[in-house]
Amino acid sequence: MECKVLLLTFFIIISFNLSKAQMVPAMFVFADSLVDVGNNNYLKLSIAKADFPYYGIDFPNHKANGRFTNGMNAADFLAEKLGLPTSPPYLSLVDKSNENNNVSFLNGVSFASGGARILGGKDNPLSQSIHLTQQLDYFSIVYKDLYKRLGSSGAKNHLSKSIFTFVIGSNDIFRYFESSDLQNKTTSLEYVDSMVLSIKAKLKRLYGFGARKFVIVGIGSIGCCPARRRETKNEKCDEEINFWSDKYNKGLISMLQELKSDLKGINYSYFDTYKAVFDFVQRPAAYGFVEVKAACCGLGTLNAKIFCLSIAKYCSNRSDYVFFDKVHPTEAAHRIIVDRIFDGSLQYAFPMNVKQLVAI
Ligand SMILES: *[C@@H]1O[C@H](CO)[C@@H](O)[C@H](O)[C@H]1NC(C)=O
Ligand SMILES: *[C@@H]1O[C@H](CO)[C@@H](O)[C@H](O)[C@H]1NC(C)=O
Ligand SMILES: *[C@@H]1O[C@H](CO)[C@@H](O)[C@H](O)[C@H]1NC(C)=O
Ligand SMILES: *[C@@H]1O[C@H](CO)[C@@H](O)[C@H](O)[C@H]1NC(C)=O
Repeated sequence: MECKVLLLTFFIIISFNLSKAQMVPAMFVFADSLVDVGNNNYLKLSIAKADFPYYGIDFPNHKANGRFTNGMNAADFLAEKLGLPTSPPYLSLVDKSNENNNVSFLNGVSFASGGARILGGKDNPLSQSIHLTQQLDYFSIVYKDLYKRLGSSGAKNHLSKSIFTFVIGSNDIFRYFESSDLQNKTTSLEYVDSMVLSIKAKLKRLYGFGARKFVIVGIGSIGCCPARRRETKNEKCDEEINFWSDKYNKGLISMLQELKSDLKGINYSYFDTYKAVFDFVQRPAAYGFVEVKAACCGLGTLNAKIFCLSIAKYCSNRSDYVFFDKVHPTEAAHRIIVDRIFDGSLQYAFPMNVKQLVAI
């Protein structure tokens, strides 16, 4: 059943996109639930899934499909802008039970996985998520396939023009502040520094495979999500979480500047999600939002007691909300963010936006 839904999903998205001119050969996505397009559906024992109602309620077929939102997410919209089909979930392509598993990796693939962390450990059969290190290991398998199909210089050329997108880090921050053990062992500053160092190593590894164009999406002002507001006085944003998210982003930005001079020939676009989400919070009406604090779907205060499970209540006016569940944005928020990632001003996307990055 799930496979059929997924196949239908791909078909719908692929046919949506065929009309646009393809701007890059491929997009590879390394990420967490914000842009998961169904990888976690293949993790048999994971509970970090969005394969039940009311996720997907505004998707073309109105079915849950593994996206942690009501409809499409930023990965769909960004692919659409690039004239590509949404990069399919890596695990759907290698799953033996999936008739679709002969699809090539040529147009890119997504390793995005709900719950994924930069500092997460290696995969094991009981894992909830595909953490970043494992996502890179999977990429090395993809690389071998591309090498076989295109040859050494063909693969090199293909990858140098492809887009490598990173949307990860929020789960690391959440985890730190939820674990007194971690907090006792390491300071917040050491922790965010180690996140930056770790992602730097991953970018270098991809450079070794031939990657040259990176889209790095910073962490949003995640202290303002319903789950965190629920824990604070007067439902305010969690300042500590916002502070360390911002601190991590700053470290990431200076690391990228360094990396640019270390690695010959790379270009990147950094996106300031922190600012973009904060704009929604401060001036919701300017973006067409009515509700920035409460989730559309859930139960309890701010609908943030539980995720959007079948027993939850959901709102009818979903595009009025920034958040669909207690941590994930609505399709409406994803869409606005991607418009800015793609051709936003220097305030949000620097040193260039994705439109400029693909034109190089
Ligand atoms: C798989 O794809 C390859 C290359 O596109 C093709 O030659 C082969 O026939 C396909 N295999 C199946 C079982 O469809
Ligand atoms: C962390 O330290 C605090 C205060 O020193 C202590 O109460 C707590 O039990 C510690 N947590 C763990 C998991 O060791
Ligand atoms: C892209 O990177 C190359 C080398 O790193 C640099 O020479 C070039 O100016 C960059 N392009 C833009 C538009 O910044
Ligand atoms: C959404 O609609 C419900 C009733 O249909 C209403 O109670 C609620 O205030 C609306 N929310 C927003 C954010 O407009």
